[in-house]
Amino acid sequence: IGCLDGHAGRLVFGMLKGKPCVCMQGRFHLYEGYAIQKITLPMRIFSLLGVETVILTNAAGGLNQDFKVGDIMIMKDHINMPGFAGNNPLAGPNDDRFGVRFPCMSDAYDRELQQLAVDVGQELGYGDFLREGVYCVLGGPSFETIAECRMLHNLGADAVGMSTVHEVIVARHCGMRVFAMSLITNKSVMDYDSEEKANHKEVLETAQHRAVQLQKLVSTMVARMEFNNTNA
Ligand code: HPA
Repeated sequence: IGCLDGHAGRLVFGMLKGKPCVCMQGRFHLYEGYAIQKITLPMRIFSLLGVETVILTNAAGGLNQDFKVGDIMIMKDHINMPGFAGNNPLAGPNDDRFGVRFPCMSDAYDRELQQLAVDVGQELGYGDFLREGVYCVLGGPSFETIAECRMLHNLGADAVGMSTVHEVIVARHCGMRVFAMSLITNKSVMDYDSEEKANHKEVLETAQHRAVQLQKLVSTMVARMEFNNTNA
């Protein structure tokens, strides 16, 4: 697992709310220089282990001007920018043992799990900072220019980041159920007058600030999830 800035690099197996789970503490990113197929290899391994549901989280810049730093955005859809340029983790020969050549992505984000997150979020009193929206992935590591932020917002993205979408595509290819959410760690700069600047320190500080609430949201969701695994 990716072992660079901000990511611990461990694979942790255990029980969460009575359900067998495996957690990635860290992940691979395009900006670290990995081939996109390596970034998504863990999803294939999880599929072979019998994992049914994948929960992904990320830090993201808020393009939607209604979003505040510290908001949690349930991902309802994505825009795959590297994919537009031909960098898709499924490019190359298709391994039919995992899935079909041309997988559907219009149902990538499981609707029931999105509703579960809304319900659990309300119950936990997180309603004020729980949002939903569209996440756009870029390669990074440089943060976006003002013109890029404006363009992405005009294209329909609510948040921008450097991860998750590649893994979602491969998880869906393997037939796993996907839920994903973004922690808005900074507001994307949309104005030439603005004094704000995206920086990694702010990203880490916001992540720390919401860590316990994110854990509670995920563990409560897991407690309520249907579980079908016959191997367990
Ligand atoms: N842009 C891209 N990736 C990010 C950002 C951002 O503003 N914040 C956290 N990850």
